[in-house]
Amino acid sequence: MTAELCFLPDPEAVSLKAALIFTAQAIKAVASKGRFTVAVSGGSTPLGLYRLLGATSKKDIPWDRTYIFWVDERCVAPDHQDSNYEGVYGALISRVDIPAANIHRIKGEMPPEAGAREYEEELKRYFGSTGLPVFDLVILGVGEDGHTASLFPNDPSLAERERLAIPVYVKRMHSRRITLTLPVLNNALSILFLVTGSKKAGILKGIFDSREKSQKFPSSLIQPVHGEVTWLIDTEAAVKLRADVSEKRRIC
Ligand code: 6PG
Repeated sequence: MTAELCFLPDPEAVSLKAALIFTAQAIKAVASKGRFTVAVSGGSTPLGLYRLLGATSKKDIPWDRTYIFWVDERCVAPDHQDSNYEGVYGALISRVDIPAANIHRIKGEMPPEAGAREYEEELKRYFGSTGLPVFDLVILGVGEDGHTASLFPNDPSLAERERLAIPVYVKRMHSRRITLTLPVLNNALSILFLVTGSKKAGILKGIFDSREKSQKFPSSLIQPVHGEVTWLIDTEAAVKLRADVSEKRRIC
């Protein structure tokens, strides 16, 4: 898989680097097209990034022209502790001056299929109904099993080519979710993976050792068609990566 890698000492440095990239891309996108669109992930890793962004002002980031979408959502109410919306709301949205109309959440409280259809309509209303949405930035994480967004290893959802968003059932976690599909994620202009901690070391090795795209590692299927993918990895997560793999693609 092609990707650029950036190695950082710890989770704090990963969050800081991600915040700098987010800010630079927001400023650039707003300067060139008048808006910045970002799709964010849930999970614990990006919370440090969201907190840093939550401490910025309109002066640093053009929040009034920033539009926030979600990569995936758990099928729970928006104020549930598992809700990806709730995580981003608490750390970021509630702390900055961003108009409510700029927030495009996935309605996890709806029945999964209806919630996915509703999100597809929301995406079409915003990006237009012809072609796929083009996000300026997509922020992704990686699960210990290699999943990304809510696209799980060897799941039929990986084969989806028509839909923008679909419901998935994760048997192992007894969890219903709604996720963007691979064609939408891969249509982004820029994708940022945030990976930290020793628990991710084994799966990162698997992802980067496998030379081919593999359904076993959904993260390896993230290969933007006209964009770039950058992995921000901390020391603990990088510990098992082979030196030849990491050095070849290293940008920092
Ligand atoms: C979610 C995510 C998911 C996440 C990974 C990593 O809803 O959980 O979008 O894909 O990014 O599971 O999660 P952690 O950051 O908690 O390790």
